[in-house]
Amino acid sequence: MHTPPLYRQLADHYLDAIRSGTLKTGERFPSIRLMMEKHAVSLSTAVQVCRELEDCGVLEARPRSGNYIRQPEAAPKTAPTASPADLDSSVYVGIHPPVSAVFKAGQRATVKVNFASAYCAPSLYPLKILQDHMAKALRRDAHLLDAEGSTCGHLALRSVLARRALTAKAHLPAEKIVITHGATEALTLALRAVTQPGDTVAVESPTFYGLLQMLESLHLHVREVPATAQSGINLLALEQLLQSPERIHALIVMPNLQNPLGSIMPDANKARLVQLCAEHGTVLIEDDTFGDLVDTEQPLSTLKYWDRGDTVIHCASLNKTLAPGMRLGWISAGKWHERVEMLKHSQSRGCEVLSQLAVSAFMKTPSYERYLRRLRKTLTQQRQHMSTAITRYFPTGTCVSEPRGGTLLWVELPSHCSAMRLFHEGLKAGIQISPGDIFSNGQRFSHFVRMGCGAPYSPKIDEALATLGQLLKKQE
Ligand SMILES: Cc1ncc(COP(=O)(O)O)c(C=O)c1O
Repeated sequence: MHTPPLYRQLADHYLDAIRSGTLKTGERFPSIRLMMEKHAVSLSTAVQVCRELEDCGVLEARPRSGNYIRQPEAAPKTAPTASPADLDSSVYVGIHPPVSAVFKAGQRATVKVNFASAYCAPSLYPLKILQDHMAKALRRDAHLLDAEGSTCGHLALRSVLARRALTAKAHLPAEKIVITHGATEALTLALRAVTQPGDTVAVESPTFYGLLQMLESLHLHVREVPATAQSGINLLALEQLLQSPERIHALIVMPNLQNPLGSIMPDANKARLVQLCAEHGTVLIEDDTFGDLVDTEQPLSTLKYWDRGDTVIHCASLNKTLAPGMRLGWISAGKWHERVEMLKHSQSRGCEVLSQLAVSAFMKTPSYERYLRRLRKTLTQQRQHMSTAITRYFPTGTCVSEPRGGTLLWVELPSHCSAMRLFHEGLKAGIQISPGDIFSNGQRFSHFVRMGCGAPYSPKIDEALATLGQLLKKQE
């Protein structure tokens, strides 16, 4: 397949954004410096992108002021909306009671140190700033609390998200984004849009237990495809599954900072994955919940970026990066957008407006990038502290993942250790962990644990890790 040069790919990317109105006439175009930083390209490539856009007549250079968007020549035709893939209905098989059992045990216990959470500590979120933006929004419009928001969400937030997606090289036009109740609702809507009860959905193995619960609640069958902490889903194994007679209706993948592995798929794998799914008629659902927590300044590319047929469904959330209490997420469902909009309306109506206005007001300011930079740095240190302590306290033979961002560590214990036993004994000592067993329907991860690093390292955390180490050594 012929791949156009990088400057041409980027120019096309921005051209799409201009034509769809994500970048509007009269707006300032990202500076050369910002393009170099965000897309990791050279000065000459960034300059070449601007030249291409000038040649297309959509960019004008204003002396000492920068580049500005001009009126595009013609709007593209929108792709026809296809009906969801033809769906057969086989028999429902229930999955995974252990997940619910682990949750119930966690809720009953008095937990003093919680390593099971994937969130950051409250002190790391910009709560005061968000409160101020909320107060401002309410002062400006006292009727915010009595007006029903639109089904797709407030345009202010959808536009900010569309604009930010550009730097992750994804083209998610604002009018094709639906604001949701976290990534949970986004993923549920995606699954409801493209599957019927009894269909089969593939997931990575291990995968976020919440997905397994979601699939069960929608009466869907699950197939697990092995994934590694180095590069995520194993494409050879996936190809084999897709070539088997069994129809795989959808695949859910976390390409960036996979939960629990922390893997980031290389770009070449992302491109190949999108192509593979398109070839086999399997709908690819991307869960990019943790992508913004990558250590580096340069945003990670999304699967949506490699999507040529508008068949990748992109789901994400602000719950880990900004404000868990606001429960804001989003979905950009490509050719299933209208069906998702209908499902969202029938399921829960539009999300509450005040939070959307407060969040979008903050995300528009340069302080948001500064806040993210600080958060990433803090998380890097917290993961480092936790990893060092785990290596010190846990039995010899323990291996700790080295994710390049996020709040999670995936820890392989010596094979004789039982993560479930550690979970129950830890709870008795007031310490909660996530046992590997809940990240799969199989038994492969019964000697793994997922450890959350969202809280600043402290003597209390250190002591809890030492206690877990002692409990494990008693299993020898
Ligand atoms: C990978 C992944 N996807 C989705 C979710 C659900 O996200 P939300 O809290 O935004 O509903 C989580 C929550 O931990 C997650 O880890």
